Amino acid sequence: MAAAVGFQRCLFAKGRDSQSPAKLNVTGADSLRAHASAVGLQVGFAVVPQLLDLNADPASGSQTGSQDVYTRTVIEQASILVAENAMKWSSLRPTATTYAFDQADRLFAFAAHCTQQVRGHNLCWHEQLPAWFATTATKDNARDLLTQHIQTVAGRYAGRVHSWDVVNEAVHIPDGRADCLRKSPWLEFIGPEYIELAFTAAAKADPQAKLTYNDYDIELDTAEQTAKRGQVLQLVRRLHARGIPIHAIGIQSHLQASGPRAGAGVISLIREAAKMGLDVYITEMDVNTHALEGGPDAQDAAVAAVYKSYLDLVLPEPNVKAVLTWGFTSARTWLNQSKQPWALRPDGARQRPLPFDDEYAPTPAFFAMRNSLDSARQPVVPTDILTPQQNQGDPYAPFAVPGSPGVPPPPVPQPKLQG
Ligand code: G3I
Repeated sequence: MAAAVGFQRCLFAKGRDSQSPAKLNVTGADSLRAHASAVGLQVGFAVVPQLLDLNADPASGSQTGSQDVYTRTVIEQASILVAENAMKWSSLRPTATTYAFDQADRLFAFAAHCTQQVRGHNLCWHEQLPAWFATTATKDNARDLLTQHIQTVAGRYAGRVHSWDVVNEAVHIPDGRADCLRKSPWLEFIGPEYIELAFTAAAKADPQAKLTYNDYDIELDTAEQTAKRGQVLQLVRRLHARGIPIHAIGIQSHLQASGPRAGAGVISLIREAAKMGLDVYITEMDVNTHALEGGPDAQDAAVAAVYKSYLDLVLPEPNVKAVLTWGFTSARTWLNQSKQPWALRPDGARQRPLPFDDEYAPTPAFFAMRNSLDSARQPVVPTDILTPQQNQGDPYAPFAVPGSPGVPPPPVPQPKLQG
């Protein structure tokens, strides 16, 4: 792999911005990690644990060039890590009765060695279920399968996890249900209460982790994303109102280089989360350039502009606590691995969606992220971009969801009274 490339490349990269090479130092005090820490934020990446060298010396400094560049970049730049695939059911569950923890254990060992935090991704999702699931899971055993998985996995890493994506991507309006939940195997076997079951089991297994609901396509102000964002908020409000342990919303933030930018809607979601005392994490950021014309410079400029405008928008919100990109190098991104039309560029060129390029040199997106981190705690979003309807009133009142099915939201049960 390209990880043999010397790390010094990152220090004096031929940056595609106008800075002189001397200003392109990206390690130590100039790293994302240092800049995030200065404003009280976590920054990090989705990683492949197999590629992390457990023998790396976190204190040796990048100048030595003695570590592979994948490992070095992760050590230098990240204060928080998440496994891109290694903690999903398909990775952890070779059979219905066994677990394979080697890669997840490796990630925790590496992170502890390098004083980094770990997000858990994920405990309950409709994708990347192991092959045996289709022939083994039934209405009769799904509840036990889910509970035992969560007890075992979240229990194993209890006290060592920053936050868990307990339920991932449960809202899907096109499935046509009145509650807008996705017709996932979990829903079909257990019913909508699978979500509460998962959060409750996770809280029991790891009372310290921040339990997170994580979803995508909830960033923009398009009709579709506004509707989905509203339904995500309704779901989270229902859980919160019922006393289900939920502590954060994960906004994945797989963004596009062309098309509309995020605006008032995502800020409204973040502020509604704050009213419930919930944190927000930007969990999977990258910028897709499949539809953007032009060469690498055009891609880089457009990608960096999206990082800058998006992070300038969301990071000043005080309950936004972490930003993670989905991978960190274009040498290893799902957008360059997928053969789907939404990933392939007509010119056949590779995408450059992340803060480091194929050769692990920082891209303009790196500098955009770093600049946004620097201004993260200075409010830059005028509050008057929020309409009164979205920003005020009863926190349990229906959220404005233009474009969503014309079904009233289900009644919100009152929280149980103590004693
Ligand atoms: O592990 C097998 C390997 O043995 C086999 O040779 C190879 C052949 O294709 O496939 C490998 O599995 C692939 C796996 O990634 C590991 O590379 C799967 O086919 C592929 O589907 C899987 O894709 C992952 C995808 O989730 C699954 O839906 C992507 O890497 C991963 O980036 C992506 O991550 C998701 C988040 O979990 C949730 N949010 C969206 C995000 C992007 O889709």
